[in-house]
Amino acid sequence: MGHDFLQTADPAFIENVRTGLAQAPKVLSSRWLYDEAGSRLFEEITQLPEYYPTRTETAIFRTHAGEMAAAAGPRAVLVEYGAGAAVKTRILLDALEAPCAYAPLDISGEFLETAADGLRADYPGLEIFPVTADFMTPTDLSSLPDCGGRQVGFFPGSTIGNLTNDQIVTFLSEAHRALGDDARFLLGADLRKSPDILVPAYDDSSGVTAAFNLNLLRRINRELGGDFDLSAFAHEARWNEAESRIEMHLVSLCDQVAQAAGQRFVFRAGETIRTEISRKFEAPALDALANESGWQVQRTWQDEAGFFCVALLS
Ligand code: AVI
Repeated sequence: MGHDFLQTADPAFIENVRTGLAQAPKVLSSRWLYDEAGSRLFEEITQLPEYYPTRTETAIFRTHAGEMAAAAGPRAVLVEYGAGAAVKTRILLDALEAPCAYAPLDISGEFLETAADGLRADYPGLEIFPVTADFMTPTDLSSLPDCGGRQVGFFPGSTIGNLTNDQIVTFLSEAHRALGDDARFLLGADLRKSPDILVPAYDDSSGVTAAFNLNLLRRINRELGGDFDLSAFAHEARWNEAESRIEMHLVSLCDQVAQAAGQRFVFRAGETIRTEISRKFEAPALDALANESGWQVQRTWQDEAGFFCVALLS
């Protein structure tokens, strides 16, 4: 097997696969799920009947956008972390009083430009400042325009739930530092509920989430010269009660050996790779994480079933 992948692959991906598959239990970062095919599959997931978060959060935004906008105040600069939630962004922009500017932050510059172009066409008066940045690392927002309103951080989608506690505190602390003391932050967070609802949301009957998870092995094969047999692994959504999270796993269906990133990895039948965590929050945990990061949960909005919440941090 050649090492051609070394010329083209993301070094962080190589590193994560080499260490993550050599350890026990095997774990990979969920960020690698989102190549082009993965992003398309995730879009499909958000439309599934079993996947309640997207439509529930969108409904919360539609119902309460006025109160959210009032909390943000006039002439706000909206800073979206991991831009991509066009529907919710537009609901909020439509409700804000004379928004000053919109600054989407994302690691993919190309993705940002597409998102920005769409908004420019529909909001001709709004200044749009795409910022190519990894939102876990310090980012300078001092060059954003100032119309006398607040900077308002925006992180919908419960993507916060895909981070560990340490990563959440790093992210929210950095956002607090970058946005300043008078800032507000609107945070979408999925809430704890019965596994009877959670597990199907992550293991849907049409198999889209399974395809999304297995696509990671396809990506490893393509980008890291791997030889994973996709038919020898199965998708599993597992509720971890103690950690209050859904975990996505890829379960090895037999004893097998696979090569990738120039290394050999041994799998026992039943052994898994954990590919994602999706934390389901309760109010006290959310309060504690906000406080640890220099914020305070000022209020929250929920749907009637209490499935999802949007928290206002100040
Ligand atoms: C992006 N993120 C909030 C999704 C979630 O629900 O944790 C990712 C996802 N994984 C499987 N289905 C959806």
